[in-house]
Amino acid sequence: MINTIWWKKGKVYILDQRKLPHKEEVIECKNYHKVTLCIRNMSIRGAPAIGIASAMGLALGAKSIKDRTKDRFFKKLRAIANRFLRTRPTGVNLFWAIDRLLALARKNRKKSLEEIKYILEKEAINILKEDIRLNKRIGKNGLRLINKPASVLTHCNTGSLATGGYGTALGVIRAAFSKGKIKKVFVDETRPALQGARLTTWELVHDKIPAVLLTDNMAGHLMQKGIIDCVIVGADRIAANGDVVNKIGTYTLAVLAKHHHVPFYVAAPSSTVDMKTYKGENVVIEERDPREVLEIQKRRIAPRNIPVVNPAFDLTPHKLVSAIITERGVVKHPSRKKMVSHFSSGD
Ligand code: MRU
Repeated sequence: MINTIWWKKGKVYILDQRKLPHKEEVIECKNYHKVTLCIRNMSIRGAPAIGIASAMGLALGAKSIKDRTKDRFFKKLRAIANRFLRTRPTGVNLFWAIDRLLALARKNRKKSLEEIKYILEKEAINILKEDIRLNKRIGKNGLRLINKPASVLTHCNTGSLATGGYGTALGVIRAAFSKGKIKKVFVDETRPALQGARLTTWELVHDKIPAVLLTDNMAGHLMQKGIIDCVIVGADRIAANGDVVNKIGTYTLAVLAKHHHVPFYVAAPSSTVDMKTYKGENVVIEERDPREVLEIQKRRIAPRNIPVVNPAFDLTPHKLVSAIITERGVVKHPSRKKMVSHFSSGD
């Protein structure tokens, strides 16, 4: 399996996704600051992987706190947590992972500082392992939606690189392929950061899963020709009514899929479901550097004085979603009522 992030002897190692598919370079993070940089500059990206990176980063930060009093330790820990919370605003897994570590630290406040630091390290590593386990369950749950060898369209990268391993939407594709249910995977290039062209194809080639690369504006044409059997994407945040916020271009695909009667599936761990967000419109959409649009791989493609928009994500209303697949099962045609009954019990 491809490893995107790991913890070894008090350091965090991150496979630099900006360099893929040309170079496999690993970034060594000796301090939490380096991890925040890796999240900001997208050396590591994908909502679950960002969650894992921020948990490991916070654990690294905790180790670096030299204060011996509990009050000062917790004050500094919260300050480091805030640094992570300011890196990328849209994906909820980051907030979920940081909350999980802070709550655990608070719960163990009576223990020694050395013990608390060790508990945080173990928990961060645990979040990584747990994510892989959950992804395999998501894969299994998604299998029942694919009945024949299918041509599947996917967007962005939702594989091992975007998670602890195996992947969410790509995990469903991996599981389906292992059961002979995948004819071909159509991969959107996913402008502007090209996660599809650079990363998803790299993973599919690695696993020898038949794949075809297309530019984002070709999906409608392929659906019109009846070539696509279903669309499977991941999510950065799923609201309490089933609205899905995911990589820019997802909404366009969902509208196209609806028009062509192609099922549109969303696969994500339940940590991506944010029951505190009432509807998708309430999610902050990250706006990124205009240079991502003005350039391709650092090469300018537009004149100097052209204004640019660069929202990194968009909102797909739940009415366009055929099913949400998580490790807890499948919610078909999600609505607030179904989401509440599926996700409000237990954690
Ligand atoms: O900007 P990115 O590359 O972090 O965006 C990633 C996506 O939008 C993915 O589809 C999403 O995080 C799900 S990954 C399992």
